[in-house]
Amino acid sequence: MEKKRVLSGMRPTGLLHLGHFFGALQNWVKLQEDHECFYCIVDYHALTTDYEDTSNLKDYIFNMAVDWMAAGLNPKKSTIFIQSAVKEHAELHLLLSMVVPLGWLLRVPTYKEQLREIKGKDLHTYGFLGYPVLQAADIVVYKAGIVPIGEDQLPHLELTREIVRRFNHFYGNVFPEPEAMLTEVSRLPGTDGRKMSKSYNNSIFLSDPPELMRSKIMMMVTDPARKRRNDPGNPDICPVFAFHKVFSPPEKIVEIDRECRRAGIGCTECKSYLADHVKKRFSDFIDRRNQFASDKRKMEAMLAEGAERARAVASETVREVREAVKL
Ligand code: TRP
Ligand code: SF4
Repeated sequence: MEKKRVLSGMRPTGLLHLGHFFGALQNWVKLQEDHECFYCIVDYHALTTDYEDTSNLKDYIFNMAVDWMAAGLNPKKSTIFIQSAVKEHAELHLLLSMVVPLGWLLRVPTYKEQLREIKGKDLHTYGFLGYPVLQAADIVVYKAGIVPIGEDQLPHLELTREIVRRFNHFYGNVFPEPEAMLTEVSRLPGTDGRKMSKSYNNSIFLSDPPELMRSKIMMMVTDPARKRRNDPGNPDICPVFAFHKVFSPPEKIVEIDRECRRAGIGCTECKSYLADHVKKRFSDFIDRRNQFASDKRKMEAMLAEGAERARAVASETVREVREAVKL
């Protein structure tokens, strides 16, 4: 059987944090071993919400590429590129938009939710409404069969499938229907115990220098009931312990679980252990990151080559599409 093509993307609207690493990135790195993978820095999608101030966009794109490479994405195995460097995404977005009923877009659950929740940005725009159409174009321009995404993206994938069916109905069987591959959500909370998120200001970024990672860990919230050193703690509700479960060796996790409950270990000591293990776990990553970050020319060449490879596939699809639509 022919191997299915994989496509996924991330929006360069900020720096990547540990949640991205243990959620999406690790899975992407694994997938490239036995699939043909396309990984796209979706800068047009960043513009759908962050169109007013684009001064950081280039910097976010560069850092995203560096984080991806440091995490182990390999341009010899995967096609890594910037969305706007492959104009076919935009052309296909336009052509798909012709067949997408407005009602479908207005009904996407994330649409209304984000209009309500994202403060300080006017999202009543044509571009933002069309976000899922652009995402559909990203996927089908490579005829991808598998789309690794988080659960929050499922409505967008379902819409992609609907768009594909409608397009194929009008113009013949041009696109395959892609399937979602759910990435396990990261078990890492933010430093304040809420979900790790840029907007909460509780993130540990992959680009944080080791000293900053340490100081963020030392300032993490713990079991709030544990006010004094002698109070027993409950690791089950402590974000520091959630980190231990990801970073520390099994014996250590058992020990901390036990000692926390009988006040045998203090929070400062507990966090300091954690910081050591995080540092160890990321030391290779940080070395690789520094290397890639210091060679901007090489990164740009890598992305240009990725775009060229992507374009070869995308332009062939768009050629078929134009023929099908009789343009
Ligand atoms: N909407 C996705 C997100 O916010 C990003 C994205 C854009 C994407 N195009 C894509 C993901 C295509 C998968 C496939 O996470
Ligand atoms: Fe959390 Fe560790 Fe303190 Fe227990 S000892 S409350 S696990 S930081």
